[in-house]
Amino acid sequence: MLQKLYDWVDERVDITPMWRDLADHEVPEHVNPAHHFSAFIYCFGGLTFFITVIQILSGMFLTMYYVPDIVNAYESVKYLQNEVAYGQIVRGMHHWGASVVIVMMFLHTLRVFFTGSYKKPRELNWVVGVMIFGVMLGLGFTGYLLPWDMKAYFATAVGIEIASSVPLIGGMIETFLAGGDVLGAQTLARFFAIHVFFLPAALLALMGIHFILIRRQGISGPL
Ligand code: HEM
Repeated sequence: MLQKLYDWVDERVDITPMWRDLADHEVPEHVNPAHHFSAFIYCFGGLTFFITVIQILSGMFLTMYYVPDIVNAYESVKYLQNEVAYGQIVRGMHHWGASVVIVMMFLHTLRVFFTGSYKKPRELNWVVGVMIFGVMLGLGFTGYLLPWDMKAYFATAVGIEIASSVPLIGGMIETFLAGGDVLGAQTLARFFAIHVFFLPAALLALMGIHFILIRRQGISGPL
């Protein structure tokens, strides 16, 4: 049945070469931990990607209950956490995953740095990586405010304060982030929009470029 369906589609759109290209791609020996245990350092990029997928999926489910306004945000998170079936586990995955993904990304960056993989011809992908790094930190910063409890509020107040100390444009950054003169309704609304629309869209685009470049250039090494 499934085979028939596959053949039907394949006859019309020729899908076999698409997945064959990925499935038949051989992983070089020097990045395969089954050959050299120390090659596990090459897994951090893939692990970062894996946690990122978990973040996107769990985040999509969180938006089913989360209400992004200052009257309801805290209660909606509390309801999700205590009443909704599996709500606690989905929120827990997103909460802890947010830290794990930063750690994995950092380890991946260290691997790329210490194997010298940022050198020619991979300079561009390093630059793309630095952009991804910034987007990930932005996701962490904007997501932290969303539960709208004391910790979220005052941590964000400190964060915006730090950003406002940038020479010359600090005031502009502060107004942009807070959405006005005070940390309030406008801030929560734009942090939500940035957290669930702007930065994830940027992240998907950048990760796409990151992976296309890796496939075109091949993995670096062996040392
Ligand atoms: C969401 C974050 C990221 C994901 C999912 C990701 C994923 C990956 C993957 C799967 C690889 C293949 C090799 C490996 O796994 O080590 C890779 C390679 C690479 N990454 Fe990332 N990466 C991320 C962030 C970064 C950052 C922050 C940097 C640097 C600032 C970076 C720079 C590079 C470079 C230069 C390569 C090519 C390395 C080589 O050919 O040896 N990446 N990335």
